[in-house]
Amino acid sequence: MTIHIGAKKGEIAETVLLPGDPYRAKWAAETFLTDTKLVNETRGMLGFTGTWKGHRVTIQGSGMGMPSLSIYVNELIRDFGAKTLVRIGSCGGMQDRVNIRDIIIAMTSTTLGNPSRGIFRELNYAPCADWSLLRAAVTAAETRDAAVHVGGIYSSDVFYDERPDLNEQMVRHGILGVEMEAAELYTLAARHGCRALAVLTVSDHLLTGAALPSDERERSFGDMVEIALEAAFA
Ligand code: ADE
Repeated sequence: MTIHIGAKKGEIAETVLLPGDPYRAKWAAETFLTDTKLVNETRGMLGFTGTWKGHRVTIQGSGMGMPSLSIYVNELIRDFGAKTLVRIGSCGGMQDRVNIRDIIIAMTSTTLGNPSRGIFRELNYAPCADWSLLRAAVTAAETRDAAVHVGGIYSSDVFYDERPDLNEQMVRHGILGVEMEAAELYTLAARHGCRALAVLTVSDHLLTGAALPSDERERSFGDMVEIALEAAFA
């Protein structure tokens, strides 16, 4: 048990899927895992451990933004021995060729500021995904109908960004989508010798203003969860 995770020792699996939304953790656990047990509800940030095709998996909400994710990932790695961490979440599309419902597998994540900024100071550290997970996720994605993009994303500190020029530069430099957590996940995983990846569903689009209707979200998010699980246990 830690400050933010009420699970007992041994109740968290070595492989953890991390949706931002705790209710998406509940939905994913109920939909994809068997023998599911609620292992955390501290602050309502639900976490479940269960079995997928014979493998033990925890699905733990991370909250929104890098400071929140940093708390959960630090505790999962340092206190519960998590080794493979896959973010499953939504993102905003940033290129014309990226459409809502598409899946983005994040090779790297650019960020302006994250909780690790204090360590790096003037250094522009390049947070990147674990290669074995990335390769396995791409292979898993190729067997599905969903359109998949692999490349760089942007982990922003703000959802309501008052600096549109910054988004313009991201678009110009080929960034596929924007979310708010992956850069710190990749940085923490690297620091602790763990594997990390972010598999994202495009839920809205910064260039077109399109957004995924809420009744369609579950179906689109299902592909992402299955790709994450297949990659983690490839
Ligand atoms: N997550 C989903 N859509 C997003 C957006 N437009 N900006 C930041 N995070 C997001």
